[in-house]
Amino acid sequence: DEWDVKICCIGAGYVGGPTMAVIAKKCPKVRVCVVDISQKQIDAWNSDKLPIYEPGLPEIVSDCVNKNLFFSTDVDGEIDKADIIFISVNTPTKTKGIGAGRAANIKNCELCARQIAKVANSSKIVVEKSTVPVRTAQAITRVLKSNDKGLDFQVLSNPEFLAEGTAISDLMAPDRVLIGGHQSPEGLAAAEKLVSVYANWVPRERILTTNLWSSELSKLVANAFLAQRVSSINSISALCEATGADVSEISRAVGMDDRIGKRFLQSSVGFGGSCFQKDILNLVYLCETFGLEECAAYWNQVVIMNDYQKKRFSQKMVAQMFNTVTGKKIALLGYAFKKDTGDVRETPSMFVLRDLLEEGARMHVYDPQVSREDMWIEMNYTCGVNHDNTPGLDESVITETDVYAACDGAHALAVLTEWDEFKTLDYERIFKSMAKPAFVFDGRNILDYAKLRDIGFEVHAIGKPDPNKFSDL
Ligand code: NAI
Repeated sequence: DEWDVKICCIGAGYVGGPTMAVIAKKCPKVRVCVVDISQKQIDAWNSDKLPIYEPGLPEIVSDCVNKNLFFSTDVDGEIDKADIIFISVNTPTKTKGIGAGRAANIKNCELCARQIAKVANSSKIVVEKSTVPVRTAQAITRVLKSNDKGLDFQVLSNPEFLAEGTAISDLMAPDRVLIGGHQSPEGLAAAEKLVSVYANWVPRERILTTNLWSSELSKLVANAFLAQRVSSINSISALCEATGADVSEISRAVGMDDRIGKRFLQSSVGFGGSCFQKDILNLVYLCETFGLEECAAYWNQVVIMNDYQKKRFSQKMVAQMFNTVTGKKIALLGYAFKKDTGDVRETPSMFVLRDLLEEGARMHVYDPQVSREDMWIEMNYTCGVNHDNTPGLDESVITETDVYAACDGAHALAVLTEWDEFKTLDYERIFKSMAKPAFVFDGRNILDYAKLRDIGFEVHAIGKPDPNKFSDL
């Protein structure tokens, strides 16, 4: 037929959708089909309202869809058609059984491998796109090889390094593309075939090929290092608040050292998202499995520090507001785990919301992208807070579509997502409408504190000296 290569991607989520859209855009002679068991998800991809919010994505999808980019629930048919099959399904932390709370569940990946072995009628290259524990390719290979059709399956590891919110620019110009394969002639040939797809737009020197295990493990290590930087600077933010040092000044001073670098050194209420915590816990569990207790404890501390930072924030809010928020209206600005995404998985806002609810506050939540339904699904999933076990929950949490309504009459507003629009709100108007003293808690350090204090707010931020506490500033 007319296509150079046919690709099928199993899993039409935050990774499968954008990565395949960009491959389709950059490779007009490659046919790309993204499949999923969720009819709702596929219908959304085929509609005007995509299932995920990602800047630049709608334009690319509408350019390519039904030309060389397809979204379908015909998993079996598309597997059979494809030369290369990406597995891009979710790999969440196990909640039960061995390794619960730490190990990643690769059930979905194994199911995909079984499905491929069952329905394929020709040899395939199978690519792990999902983030998996090191040596998962061995399990995938064994499952695939157990077919009795005499087919050859080559398994590659091609972890995804995109960041939500900047997925399209990350995919268009990646720092690197990593492809791991068996170091056999067949394995190297399979890797070369995948290299040639990416080489349509990624410079060769940015496409790294390694052995399978290095590739699988590199993804966990990359996320662990990124999260570690956040926890490291966050630990310093607590020391700043105690001493009158300013964490932003420290980030700048430290980050100008080339060896350290300035990115990912901004202090905040803590990291969220579906990946950092899951992948570090996965790394911790791997270390434990191999008897490396010290290595496990070292990386586990990154997660402990992040939990501490989230807790510290909500505790500080209560402490500053005269040790009680019971019955007080509080506005939460931002629920997404970071700006430019609607993703709420493991969002720090949720933990702050949960803590303040326990204190009896009346919460009004505003986020430009997050629906109330998504908020509750995540709240129930991660914190077990739902309508059944928390009487009066509906009355205690109001989701607002207007940020000024969210703040009207509130004792405090807390910025928990760094959405740009929060920088340019009419704070004079907000101040007038709030109870006094009017508190601002900035969990992202994005506001203009001098200006807010001039207006009359009492401002608290992360790792920023409190002028009421330090007269010697
Ligand atoms: P997601 O939850 O958004 O999407 C996964 C999709 O797979 C869902 O739509 C689900 O219905 C589908 N699925 C699950 N089992 C299936 C099966 N057996 N057959 C067909 N479809 C199936 O997950 P997301 O965020 O796209 O993550 C996927 C993987 O990529 C994970 O391993 C994650 O760690 C990794 N990753 C995620 C990044 C992110 O920013 N979200 C970045 C880099 C890697």
